[in-house]
Parts: sequence; structure tokens; C-alpha cells
Amino acid sequence: MLFSFAPMEGVTLYPYRRLHAEMFPGVDRYYAPFIAPDGSGKYKASNLRDILPENNRGYTLIPQILCNRPEPFLAVARELAAMGYREVNLNLGCPSATVVSKHKGAGLLADPAALDAFLEEIFSRSPLAVSVKTRMGLEGTEEFPALLEVFEKYPAAELIVHARARSGMYKSVPDLAGFAAALEKSHLPLCYNGNVFSPAGLKKVLAAAPGLERVMIGRGAAADPALFRRLRGGAALEAAELREFLERLLEAYQARGLSPNHCLARMKELWYYVIWLFPGASPKALNKARTLSDYRSAVDLLFASGAFSSEASFNG
Ligand SMILES: Cc1cc2nc3c(=O)[nH]c(=O)nc-3n(C[C@H](O)[C@H](O)[C@H](O)COP(=O)(O)O)c2cc1C
Repeated sequence: MLFSFAPMEGVTLYPYRRLHAEMFPGVDRYYAPFIAPDGSGKYKASNLRDILPENNRGYTLIPQILCNRPEPFLAVARELAAMGYREVNLNLGCPSATVVSKHKGAGLLADPAALDAFLEEIFSRSPLAVSVKTRMGLEGTEEFPALLEVFEKYPAAELIVHARARSGMYKSVPDLAGFAAALEKSHLPLCYNGNVFSPAGLKKVLAAAPGLERVMIGRGAAADPALFRRLRGGAALEAAELREFLERLLEAYQARGLSPNHCLARMKELWYYVIWLFPGASPKALNKARTLSDYRSAVDLLFASGAFSSEASFNG
């Protein structure tokens, strides 16, 4: 099985990926959260820092672009090629209202003809291989067969399918049957994404889609950094490992020069997922933390509570 760590804006940034790859090796690919270029291909300095090769040593990174026009996409792709990247991923999954209303992310799925024209340009002119991360439709997953016909026209390095429509945001039940039908029919390398939170979750996907060779995981791995290891039959996460991971991550953000408030915000964002490994414990003190000292005390309390369970998993 080829395992990918999904891009998660605000969570899986380079300090996170670097530490994760060091402490929990075995992920085949990490995807960077999206770069959203403006009309001339310019984008935020923080996006550039996140993908600079010197910040991403020791693991395979695939950068991602969120964009609906060929020129900015190709401008960023050329920069990535010059940095040594061999593949770029196109985001056709972002469900946020501001993105979709601009016909970007999952918004591009509304008009298969416009999507086709966009793909024609980027696949014929990209200096590096292009993979695609898509939802199964805008309003419903029954839109996917028609979309798949469009994708099939192009040599995508990989088609990652988040098995929901945009309307399902991150909540609806993934359409395993629809994904399995696509896997059977498509000649593209399909990767499954959506709600794999545990070994039992992976088993369910594999039962529905036998022959699946690629799985991407986001929130489940944000909650349990050892999830990929567990899925490969290795040891479950230990409390001491998790503690070390969290402490070293905070130190990495500090070393990067983030302000204490920014560090606190990043760690709280991650704890939105990690707290699932402490069933029954209250996140109150953590949520109320206003300083890094409050934060560390709240984390101490959680680990001292005895609530940690390596068998628990994200299920939000
Ligand atoms: C906080 C957050 C940020 C995300 N950022 C991105 C992103 O930058 N690019 C992207 O393609 N998907 C993004 N996603 C979607 C995930 O990559 C993934 O497709 C989704 O969470 C479903 O997989 P999961 O059930 O394994 O989490 C994000 C999801 C979350 C919850």
C-alpha cells in the first residue's frame, strides 16, 4: 500500500512534516497545503517557505496549487520544476464558500467543459507531472462518472479522490461504492481519501474497493501520528512518544521564529484532532490557555489524567 499524508492547511506545515517524518517514518508522500497564486503567479512568502527544498529534507513532498487559470498554474509549476520538484498536485477539492464561489477548488467541478479546457492547457504545457486531488462532485457524488470521463483524457500521475461531494464538506458519509466503481473502471492510478481513522476504517475501504493500492489520510493521522505505522502492522502510539512529538513540534515552531501567540494557535489547532486520543477528558483548560505556560500546564493535566488511549481515534 502506498500511503500519503493529506495536505491540511494550518496543520501539516513543514515543521510538522519534518518532525513527523523523523519520528514516524514510513509515509510514502506528504502533500503540502495549497499555494493559491494571484493572476500573475505570485503567492504568499509563507507558502514559499513551506515548500522550499531546504525546509523539506528527508521525505517526499508534493506541492499543491489551487487555481483555475492556466497561466498562474504554469508560472508556479515552472518555479517548482526549477526547485527540483517532479510533480505538482491540482486542488479540485477545497469546499470553502469563498473558494468555490470563485470557481476554484471544488468549484471547478461545477462545469466539466471548463474543467476540461483548463486541464487540456495545464497537462499539455506543464513542465512537471501533474496529479489531481478531487471531490466526487459539487452537489452529489453521482456527478463523478461524468467528471471521471474528463479526467481520463489526461495522463494524471495520480487521481486522489476524496469520496465526498463538496456539499458534504467533511461530514457526509464517504461514497465507497461510487469510489469502487470508479476504481474498477479507470485506467488512472486512483488514490482513496476520506475518513480512514483506524485499521478498522482501512479494512472497510479495502473490503469495498479490493485491489486499492493507494490511500491518503488527513485527520486520522493528525490525531494519531503513528496511524500509518499501525496501518502497516506496527506498534500503536505510546503516550511518551506523543508527548515528545508535541513538545518538539512546539519547539520547532518557536525555532522558526513564530510568536508565542502563533505557536499557541498552531498547537491548539493540532489538539483539535489529538484530543480524540484522550476519550472522556475535557479540553477546557487547553481551549482556555492564553500563554504557552497555560498550554503546557493543560497538556500536563491531560497526560496525567490517564485518559490517553492508543486505541482511540479521531471520529469527528
Ligand atoms: C483543516 C484542514 C485543512 C485542509 N487543507 C487542505 C489543503 O490545503 N489542500 C487539500 O487538498 N485538502 C485540504 N484538506 C482536506 C484533506 O486533505 C482531506 O482531503 C480531508 O480531510 C479528508 O481526508 P481525511 O478524512 O483523511 O481527513 C484540509 C482538511 C482540513 C480538515
